[in-house]
Amino acid sequence: MAKYDLPGPRSAELLQMSQKYEGGATSRQQPFVWDTAQGCIITDVDGNEYIDWTSGVLVTNVGHCHPKHVEAIQKQVARLLCPYDFPTPERVTLAKRMVEITPDPLDACFMLTTGSEATEAAMRIAKRFTGNHEIISFYGGFHGRTVGAMSAAGKTGTKKQYGPVLTGHIQSPYAYCYRCPFDLTPDTCDFKCLRFLDNVVETSSTGQLAAAIVEPYQGGAGFIFPPEGWLKQLEAWCQEHEVLFILDEVQSSFGRTGKMFYAEHEDLHPNFMCIGKGIGSGMPTACLMTEKRIMEVFEPGELSSTTGGNPVSCAAAHAVLDIFEEEGLVENSAKIGEYMLGRLKKLEHESKYLGDARGRGLVMGLEFVADKETKEPSKEITWQVVEECAREGLCVGVVGFYGNVIRVAPPLVITEDLAEKSCDIMEKVVKGLE
Ligand SMILES: Cc1ncc(COP(=O)(O)O)c(C=O)c1O
Repeated sequence: MAKYDLPGPRSAELLQMSQKYEGGATSRQQPFVWDTAQGCIITDVDGNEYIDWTSGVLVTNVGHCHPKHVEAIQKQVARLLCPYDFPTPERVTLAKRMVEITPDPLDACFMLTTGSEATEAAMRIAKRFTGNHEIISFYGGFHGRTVGAMSAAGKTGTKKQYGPVLTGHIQSPYAYCYRCPFDLTPDTCDFKCLRFLDNVVETSSTGQLAAAIVEPYQGGAGFIFPPEGWLKQLEAWCQEHEVLFILDEVQSSFGRTGKMFYAEHEDLHPNFMCIGKGIGSGMPTACLMTEKRIMEVFEPGELSSTTGGNPVSCAAAHAVLDIFEEEGLVENSAKIGEYMLGRLKKLEHESKYLGDARGRGLVMGLEFVADKETKEPSKEITWQVVEECAREGLCVGVVGFYGNVIRVAPPLVITEDLAEKSCDIMEKVVKGLE
């Protein structure tokens, strides 16, 4: 295939318009503008096609414009749109389905619109239920951009220069093993970073801990996966200290890691599970799973969200759940993910610049460095890879604590053929850096 000359004329025009009228508020731009997408293939406004390794922002888990998803949304739009105060069959039956598929003790589902709303609601409810106000979160963590969520962020980029964030947030190191803050290795560290939480609490807490919030893997920080057992040990710590355990599965749920929910990998039983992104597969949909005994502290009307649980979002989520069941997407995520990680790990060993390839299911991170010895992060190389991939017909995005991690997160409907083709492109581009 001939390389694309990017940006094409229509993309160039729209990118310029975006700079002029959108004020640069969105992420750094790819050299093309999306027009349509089907399954795992994006077509830009100049007619060029790309294999999608982003799923938007890990959103379109059932593939772009899945016919069943589209049909459910279209039908519901024409039937009923109404706000939160009034239950609808779509909302109530979705809550039932969510309670049935999430782990114990989660037996209540509060529908919302965005992931940030779900994490905010979890922290808010935890404070109300315990009467305490302190929240533990982790270095590198990302839970959204509203003020409460931002206060729990462990990345300066999320809160830099926004003045004082909420008080009562306490932070402890996450298991970023490629760049261990204690210079240890996971085989011998005995989870030093997690044990350090005791020091953090001892020195920083006023003794009024309400909850700990954690991502099962850190997405925004660069797809950082803690070693097996780390989350279970954190859960045990929370139980021992009577601290509510909030698992932020906004990104990791809905099959992304080869299980419906990440909690299943480690038999986790959180008090709250925040869910977003993949549940609506593109329709703004989120929910907070929690316990009825916790929700009971509220008076009616104390919690609300105008468009939370609107019938169109709920119909979309029902279709997503049906598609998961009918098409075995969780299994596909595990199977294709294993193949892709194998290819990318091999590439890591062969490349001077790919410092670490890591992941689980269909979510992986490729961390690029200028030098493998010093592990100096390289944004330049990362963006060189992004742009060259685009010219070769592969759409990837960038995240990371240091802005040097390429996200590998295709829609879960990806076929073996497209997985192979897209890995071939990445291999060609990365080897071309040498
Ligand atoms: C783990 C996690 N939590 C919360 C959020 C916030 O979700 P939203 O952008 O829908 O508010 C995100 C978004 O990227 C996320 O990755």
